[in-house]
Amino acid sequence: MTRSAPKTFKVKSFGCQMNVYDGARMAELLEAEGLSAVDQGEDADLVVLNTCHIREKAAEKVYSDIGRLKREDGTSPMIAVAGCVAQAEGAEIPRRAPAVDIVVGPQAYHRLPEMVKAAQTGRAIDTDMPIASKFDALPKRRRQGPTAFLTVQEGCDKFCTYCVVPYTRGAEVSRPWAAVIDEAKALVDAGAKEITLLGQNVNAWEGEDETGRRQGLDGLIRALDRLPGLSRIRYTTSHPNDMKDGLIAAHGEVEKLMPFLHLPVQAGSDRILKAMNRSHTVESYLRLIERVRASRPDIAISGDFIVGFPGETDADFEATLDIVRAVGHAQAFTFKYSPRPGTPAATMADQVAESLMDERLQRLQALINEQQHDFNRATIGRRTMVLIERDGKKPGQRIGKSPWLQSVHVETPAAIGEMIEVEIVSAGPNSVGGALAERRAA
Ligand code: SAH
Ligand code: SF4
Ligand code: F3S
Repeated sequence: MTRSAPKTFKVKSFGCQMNVYDGARMAELLEAEGLSAVDQGEDADLVVLNTCHIREKAAEKVYSDIGRLKREDGTSPMIAVAGCVAQAEGAEIPRRAPAVDIVVGPQAYHRLPEMVKAAQTGRAIDTDMPIASKFDALPKRRRQGPTAFLTVQEGCDKFCTYCVVPYTRGAEVSRPWAAVIDEAKALVDAGAKEITLLGQNVNAWEGEDETGRRQGLDGLIRALDRLPGLSRIRYTTSHPNDMKDGLIAAHGEVEKLMPFLHLPVQAGSDRILKAMNRSHTVESYLRLIERVRASRPDIAISGDFIVGFPGETDADFEATLDIVRAVGHAQAFTFKYSPRPGTPAATMADQVAESLMDERLQRLQALINEQQHDFNRATIGRRTMVLIERDGKKPGQRIGKSPWLQSVHVETPAAIGEMIEVEIVSAGPNSVGGALAERRAA
């Protein structure tokens, strides 16, 4: 069968922020080829499913999504499976779902335009991890809302025993200094006020600056701090073992670096951390948090937690609740352990029953929700800058972010992308209310 060249496309991204970034880059690439984006997948000639392989549910979702793309007349749009499921399952995907035309891995998507051409007459599969960087082949950033993602580091060498990322994204690689600075400048020129530096282990970023000096993520952050027009810098996600002194110091010294740190610990029992191959202990994590807080006392700490890792006992789980209390996490993502094919943990003894995982997840979530509410309450009375990101539900209301990544609801005529000063006046579990500071001061 031959197909005509697609004129419209839709990219749907699932999973982490790095996939969101990749999805945006794929869209820019297709636009540069003359295709136009449409809002609804059903209307598109080409649908890119940018998938996540981290847990079984996420990975299986792609197959139901493919099924849903079938039109009433039995035809489908051209379908490309991108992202981490593409990398992990490769040619297996079209065997299971013959409607799939293209399979493209996260390190190969700069080749999407040629693959779209090839898919007009056949099937195209590319899950290479080429040495030459895909970034060099991508078009310059052009359009941007007030907040932007910028991938600076990819891959993971940590091999936590439950995790597929080292297999789907490959080894740790840092993008060069100049490439990052150039892309940040392009994003600011295109309207970004806040940039979030991304990587699976973003704090492992390293490189050489323009004078040839070795730099870590803190050096990059300090350079971005000097970019006129940029107001805020964030970074995610970090590994405790890569949290170096310079980066901790930057939290106390760099004004544009926001007081928020996503630093996953995963569990609160040393026995489980060891089985997870996390290579840090509860004690070393707590000491690290102390040092970060000494540098930046108001910092909000966030994390990821897995419940029901193989062998997790009631006492191990209680220890997870303890570490959440001890750190005072202001927010966190919580997951039920999902055995992933090819990972060491999948074949470990003592897999935990689903019902027990459900119960533990609920208890952990309840604790984190409570702490998030407490954190929000504790910010009442603070005067702070808010970056307006979108309209609220009520007329005249806008929603923005505080430095601590809280959603702030505020009545203001300020436009999206403006930074305004507000006083936090109320707190809910998931957001806070703000009032315009000038008005209160007057
Ligand atoms: N590099 C990041 C995490 C990337 S994956 C880090 O180490 O912090 C995001 C989160 O998904 C992980 O932090 C972990 O909490 C969760 N996760 C990864 N594999 C999982 C699995 N097999 N089952 C359940 N949760 C998992
Ligand atoms: Fe996965 Fe661990 Fe690497 Fe994070 S550090 S991506 S959890 S292997
Ligand atoms: Fe998922 Fe791949 Fe990100 S597995 S979490 S999309 S790195």
